[in-house]
Amino acid sequence: MSFDESAFNYKISSDHKTGTDLDILKRLFGNKKFDKTLDVAAAAGHCAKIFNAKQYVVSDLSFNMLKEALSDWPVPSAVKNCAETLPFKTQTFDLISCRIALHHFRDAEGFFKESSRALKNNGFLVLIDSLVDIEDAYLNTIEFIRDPSHFRSYTFKEIVNMTADYFRIDFMQLLYKKHNFDEWSKRLNPSRERLEKISQAFLALPENIKHELSLEIADENILSYTDKKAVIILRKL
Ligand SMILES: C[S@@+](CC[C@H](N)C(=O)[O-])C[C@H]1O[C@@H](n2cnc3c(N)ncnc32)[C@H](O)[C@@H]1O
Repeated sequence: MSFDESAFNYKISSDHKTGTDLDILKRLFGNKKFDKTLDVAAAAGHCAKIFNAKQYVVSDLSFNMLKEALSDWPVPSAVKNCAETLPFKTQTFDLISCRIALHHFRDAEGFFKESSRALKNNGFLVLIDSLVDIEDAYLNTIEFIRDPSHFRSYTFKEIVNMTADYFRIDFMQLLYKKHNFDEWSKRLNPSRERLEKISQAFLALPENIKHELSLEIADENILSYTDKKAVIILRKL
């Protein structure tokens, strides 16, 4: 159960290859042309492709994810690296994007610091990730049962605090994303025991949290849940 083993699942995942978040990016950036963009934790590259750039770089910790990103889009340079230490010269990129991955990083603030360094002045950092507030502890716990590489989804306030020294926030939009439970829970090829633990963790939630997550259940089977994501556009200070 690892990103390398499940790389193809991320390529075909309905949660990743489409989404309102990508539509928002098309609307915001469709008319802009960049010299050089970097997508951090790019997985199969669904977010990287949204931007118009002369040069694309995709990076990820997982070699197989990068292989998937390049399999039908051999345009970008691919770099295997950790998001917290970007191996690029200072002021290299016009735009850095990072979609549905911040919650894996052990040092999120280190990632923001490094992104700021690698961006040109006034460059864009495009951040998309889950946000938590009242269901915080619950969702982080369940995500960790499903995927032990889940570190933490943040509150908006925490993101503001972590980025304030390096970026100003230009734009923020909250959206609600419905996850097909079967696809979501099986994406990392879990054992039967782990799958059962994920279901039980959802079913044991207090009623107000089930309501908050719009949990759909039929005959003790979870059909879907809905979480909050944010599209946040930051500009380098
Ligand atoms: C949910 S996927 C990202 C989806 C992708 N950005 C998209 O738009 O389809 C999470 C990715 O983060 C990568 N990852 C996890 N921790 C990382 C880290 N510390 N540095 C770089 N990549 C990391 C994983 O290998 C995986 O490919």
